[in-house]
Amino acid sequence: MNEIQVLDKTFVPFLSAEDIQSKIESLAVTINKDYQNKKPLFVAILNGSFMFAADLFKSVTVDAEICFIKLASYKGTQSTGHVITAIGLDSNITGRDIIVVEDIIDTGKTLHTFLPQIINQQPSSVKIATLLHKPEATVYDLHIDYCCFSIPNKFVVGYGLDYDGFGRNTKAIYQLKS
Ligand code: XMP
Ligand code: MG
Repeated sequence: MNEIQVLDKTFVPFLSAEDIQSKIESLAVTINKDYQNKKPLFVAILNGSFMFAADLFKSVTVDAEICFIKLASYKGTQSTGHVITAIGLDSNITGRDIIVVEDIIDTGKTLHTFLPQIINQQPSSVKIATLLHKPEATVYDLHIDYCCFSIPNKFVVGYGLDYDGFGRNTKAIYQLKS
């Protein structure tokens, strides 16, 4: 794999397409076991999670639904600290088993702010599934149920993750070159 250029920044290969797909397969196996005889509703957070949510959902074999919501807390490579809900949750989640699907958990602020909106509607359970987690950056208290990769506190792009809107359209994940 080669370095890639996204706008004014250079990124180096970090997680291969094969490694990503194999972790997602294993996660789906776990979810299929954990949700036997249940009908979970996946709530995927746009935009970053769209590829992860699609690949994970394809490997889920229990009866399941998926919906998408849009939140944002990032501008460029730094968190703005604000969480904005752009497209709300329109499915009825009362009594449902919810799996929130995120691309990456950084400070944890996005989910910390958003989860009460879910819990308010009295689902029967809520779990968090994230492709990436930056443990060194996480300052909000969050229980992450399913995580594919714990990564260092460096900015990454690819496989749905962006730098100012660009860089999402790759099968691998790349890390900002230092
Ligand atoms: P918080 O801090 O709320 O951030 O946990 C979660 C959201 O921030 C974005 N984010 C990133 N996006 N590369 C990206 O492309 C990164 O390294 C990165 N770190 C955080 C992302 O939108 C995530 O949902
Ligand atoms: Mg995101």
